Amino acid sequence: MTTPTNDQLCEWDRAHYWHSFTPMADYEPWVIARAEGSTLYDIEGKAYLDAASSMWCAALGHNHPRVSAAVVEQLGRMAHCTSLGMGADVAVRLAKRLADLAPGDLQHVFFSSDGSSAVEVAMKQALQYWRQCERPQPAKTKYLAFGEAYHGDTIGATAVGGIGRYHDVFGPILCEVIRVDPPDSRKLPPPGGEGWGGGMNPATRFAPPPRTPPHQGEGNRMAEGECAAALARVEAVLAEQADTIAAVIVEPLVQCAAGMLMHPPGFLSGLRQLCDKHDVLLIADEVAVGFGRTGKLFACNHEEVVPDFLCLGKHLTAGYVPMAATLTTPRLYEAFLNRNATEDRTFWHGHTYSGNALAAAAAMATLDEFESGLLDGLPARIAHLGERLCHLAADPLVEHARQRGMIAAFNLTEPIGRQIGRYAMDHGVWLRAKDDLVYVMPPLNIEAGDLDRIFDVISEGLESGTADGRG
Ligand SMILES: Cc1ncc(COP(=O)(O)O)c(C=O)c1O
Repeated sequence: MTTPTNDQLCEWDRAHYWHSFTPMADYEPWVIARAEGSTLYDIEGKAYLDAASSMWCAALGHNHPRVSAAVVEQLGRMAHCTSLGMGADVAVRLAKRLADLAPGDLQHVFFSSDGSSAVEVAMKQALQYWRQCERPQPAKTKYLAFGEAYHGDTIGATAVGGIGRYHDVFGPILCEVIRVDPPDSRKLPPPGGEGWGGGMNPATRFAPPPRTPPHQGEGNRMAEGECAAALARVEAVLAEQADTIAAVIVEPLVQCAAGMLMHPPGFLSGLRQLCDKHDVLLIADEVAVGFGRTGKLFACNHEEVVPDFLCLGKHLTAGYVPMAATLTTPRLYEAFLNRNATEDRTFWHGHTYSGNALAAAAAMATLDEFESGLLDGLPARIAHLGERLCHLAADPLVEHARQRGMIAAFNLTEPIGRQIGRYAMDHGVWLRAKDDLVYVMPPLNIEAGDLDRIFDVISEGLESGTADGRG
């Protein structure tokens, strides 16, 4: 086959490539030829800063020498072997490393290929657990999930998702889910102030000192009030229906797809307590927030929570090769073991590429990078992100600016998000912006100059919105 021209590539893209979550009638081909660091280069050679880490997975930016070399090295030995009854040495080493790094006693690692599958695995393991644990409770078949949740697009993950636009159409084929409103992050205090659990929000680093002592301040009262109200909603459901609920599923700290909806401190640990009290399992879906995104290796670490299932994906391989993992505890795992010669217990689930060797090599190299300075360097980068966000927050078009770790987001008082997104594209920044929402979720190792450039372009975009008479 001869090398196609750029025009042909665009023509083929339009004709044959059905893109994820993309209204294809309006699709304008944008074909990427290569990427380096935080920059994507399209086939015309134009550069774009990747302000969304290629949908939240490119933790280390692109073409990172350590990860690329590890994948190439592994390719020279073995690309893949099945996980059915055997496993690649590198996947064994990764399982051990994840078990060592994970909170508490999350000792058992089930590999899959994407975040949706990691959630699916947790949901199925929870259900099967209640059927074969010491005192089986087969009536526990429902899940409690939050409004505006997003857990992926396979059928189980779709069922626990709560974004009407994505999920409602599939209603007829979904399992039963009890939906509870999440904390309302608009009712939380602004970043830089109190109410974010002391050092939890790195934005506090550059905040003016609180005028009142932390535990008497309004920020704390707002956060605590919203947290308590949301937990009370959960408790009301669990008190009535725990005997039919297999698990509560939550996106710890930040519901990213909901529009970077941030939970108040104490919500996650409060959920853990409620699940214990009512004998319901807790699934922490850290597919989007795991591995450094919130400033700690795992979001659960902020509140010292050990979930029953921890779902990981995206940053696990820094976006190099698809891989996800579901971790669980000995208590859960042991219910899947035969107790005598007549039993036939196993987890009835698997994927062809579970424990893929190339992906495991990418994950090992990613973890090496995290452990050789990346995590230690995060507070400075997080503070820089927060400073730039705080400057933007002064713009009259900006409201509800918020930050958690390396996630910065704000809403707009006018629906000019798409316009800002277009402006950014024209000026070399790929930014995810919806009508009233803009967020920045860059690679964790982004250069300071690149981060400044992203925020400069957003400021200019806001000005251009005002200049157009739309602000
Ligand atoms: C919290 C969460 N869970 C699960 C998923 C699904 O992951 P994947 O797209 O890899 O299937 C996503 C994707 O954005 C997510 O944000």
